Amino acid sequence: MIDGCGRTIDHLRLSLTDHCNLACRYCAPEDTPVLGGMIEANFAFEIVRWLSLQHGIRHIRLTGGEPLLHPRLIPLIERLAGLDTLHEVTLTTNGQMLAQKAAALRDAGLNRINISLDTLDPRRFAHLTRGGDLARTLAGIEAAVAVGLTPVRINVVVQRGLNDHELNDIAQWSLARGCTVRFLEVMPIGPLAHVIDEHLVSAAEMLAQLNERFWLRPIPQSLGQPAVDYAAVGVGLRGVIGIIAPTTRPFCSRCRRLRVTSRGQLVTCLHDDRYYDLSRWWNGQTLDVEGADATLSSAINEKPASGAFVQLLCMQALGG
Ligand code: 5AD
Repeated sequence: MIDGCGRTIDHLRLSLTDHCNLACRYCAPEDTPVLGGMIEANFAFEIVRWLSLQHGIRHIRLTGGEPLLHPRLIPLIERLAGLDTLHEVTLTTNGQMLAQKAAALRDAGLNRINISLDTLDPRRFAHLTRGGDLARTLAGIEAAVAVGLTPVRINVVVQRGLNDHELNDIAQWSLARGCTVRFLEVMPIGPLAHVIDEHLVSAAEMLAQLNERFWLRPIPQSLGQPAVDYAAVGVGLRGVIGIIAPTTRPFCSRCRRLRVTSRGQLVTCLHDDRYYDLSRWWNGQTLDVEGADATLSSAINEKPASGAFVQLLCMQALGG
């Protein structure tokens, strides 16, 4: 699938629900409106099947909200894993419920997993996530490693004044467990765009800090990969540390993504408020492929060259 700017689109981020058991400050507004989109598993499967068979989507990432809250997650992954047009099925989670589910996720055919971990301090974790339990996420990470959902990737959104002094400790903790760690610049999304004014830490600053404890050598970037990864060597440790810099070094010209929200809306760019409704083509049993093709075609042609920074939804509703 080639968009209006000539970019190949082969990655889909599919939000299974906009429910979350945490409410991270850059992702969920304080007065979270009543959300509750939970996509029907059959609809989700038909969307992926259609996009992968007919439109060349090869990589699926299940997101949310918190995708582990979806009651049909395991059977959905089993069905997705059976699509031989897909190269990989991955998932992003906050890890709170992962310890109990890691083995079932692996058995269902999940290829890889990303886990969000913004701090190693229990009180700060509870603050940043508005009520999360650090021990649960750490146990979830250890379980994912133990069952072999590897390489497990830890995502850290770096925020000035909140966790920006913890980069080396989180990197050390992650590498010691064989995990890859990625540090992300905070992005200005929808009603929470203002968080960057106070909390943005640039990739350059992150690297300067990491260089104090690790020797970093850049690894050539793979297609569709916004991160810059480094082979990292520290005292008694080695592994991969990556930096994702959507805010100071946007990668729009290399964007290969499409998103579908838990309400069945296609979204072509995080920073664009045009939503293309696929749910009207779903009657509860079948997807009207002709109608969906027409909606997809408008979306793909109108995918902006770069974000216009008009977005009404927060990340939790969009699908992270
Ligand atoms: N800026 C950067 N990353 C964000 N995420 C959610 N909201 C933002 C934001 N405003 C991240 C989560 C998770 C992934 C799904 O997206 O922390 O790692």
